Amino acid sequence: MFFWKTWKALQAQGVMGINRRNADYVLKYNKRHLYPVVDDKILTKERAIAAGINVPEMYGIIDTEKDIDKFDSIVAPYSDFVVKPAQGAGGDGILVIADRYEGRYRTVSGKIISHEEIEHHISSILSGLYSLGGHRDRVLIEYRVTPDEIFKSISYEGVPDIRIICLMGYPVMGMLRLPTRQSGGKANLHQGAIGVGVDLATGLTLKGTWLNNIINKHPDTTNPVEGVQLPDWNGFMTLAASCYELSGLGYIGVDLVLDQDKGPLILELNARPGLNIQIANDTGLTARCHLVEHHLAALKKAGKTETVDERVAFSQLHFGAQLNAEPSDTQPSPEPA
Ligand SMILES: Nc1ncnc2c1ncn2[C@@H]1O[C@H](COP(=O)(O)OP(=O)(O)O)[C@@H](O)[C@H]1O
Ligand SMILES: [Mg+2]
Repeated sequence: MFFWKTWKALQAQGVMGINRRNADYVLKYNKRHLYPVVDDKILTKERAIAAGINVPEMYGIIDTEKDIDKFDSIVAPYSDFVVKPAQGAGGDGILVIADRYEGRYRTVSGKIISHEEIEHHISSILSGLYSLGGHRDRVLIEYRVTPDEIFKSISYEGVPDIRIICLMGYPVMGMLRLPTRQSGGKANLHQGAIGVGVDLATGLTLKGTWLNNIINKHPDTTNPVEGVQLPDWNGFMTLAASCYELSGLGYIGVDLVLDQDKGPLILELNARPGLNIQIANDTGLTARCHLVEHHLAALKKAGKTETVDERVAFSQLHFGAQLNAEPSDTQPSPEPA
């Protein structure tokens, strides 16, 4: 039986609301001067590369109108690629080109677009149409991720991504986001993608949420979204946890993808990760965050810090979910000795 709870009822279970997220986590743990690293995807990529973390390869950057004619030479060696606003959000302004067709381009959802249309799109990105606050922006052209075969049956076109929220480098909640026909190949929930909870201990998927309803089948492929084992789950957890060192930000949403050839890659980091992940997991963030905070306080008292692997082990020990478990009455478990 699936059911929909009101936000109020969820709050009673320790679901984090936007005010608490902003005051107790975003403002407290994320220093303002570090925001540019995550709010600009080009900077994030440069940071990740410097830290030895895999990301989709950057093919080129266009930062002025007069550089728009560099586009042809940037993409000449590739038949597929992605054009995106460096400071975009929510999947807006992203063009995923899958193929070429008689001098034109074919997007992942099959739309044919002309060269002029791409140039116009690039010009719109530069003018700030998709950037946070409408500021002038840069255009990033990068490797197109081909999703791992595992996602074929539960995804419609495009690339699913895995969002892991980390507090001080401890993964606290995860969600697999699956593109649908409606989301145009993008894995953003407000474009119409599905969010599916993930058991942090095992990487097994839980139930899904689509357009604010709990679902158990993908609407386009009709395959169940629950009980799918994500491959290399420890690899994902480790990558996500290591983004604390990379960014210096204490409360982030790490977006990862699994490329058929290159394995787990970091797509982007978010300093104000959304709260819908709680609906997908049927569990609140508050209790999990409190447990990490208690643990950190205990470590501090003992003059200790933990490595990435120790942090991942802590999260896997405490934030696993039993498949088909009763909805969260999650209480912080007692601190380990
Ligand atoms: N290099 C890529 N290859 C294939 N799909 C991509 C690529 N980059 C982004 N996408 C798709 O677009 C979605 C949004 O991309 P992302 O970089 O996270 O930007 P945003 O900040 O707008 O969410 C991703 O979840 C993925 O589905
Ligand atoms: Mg994203």
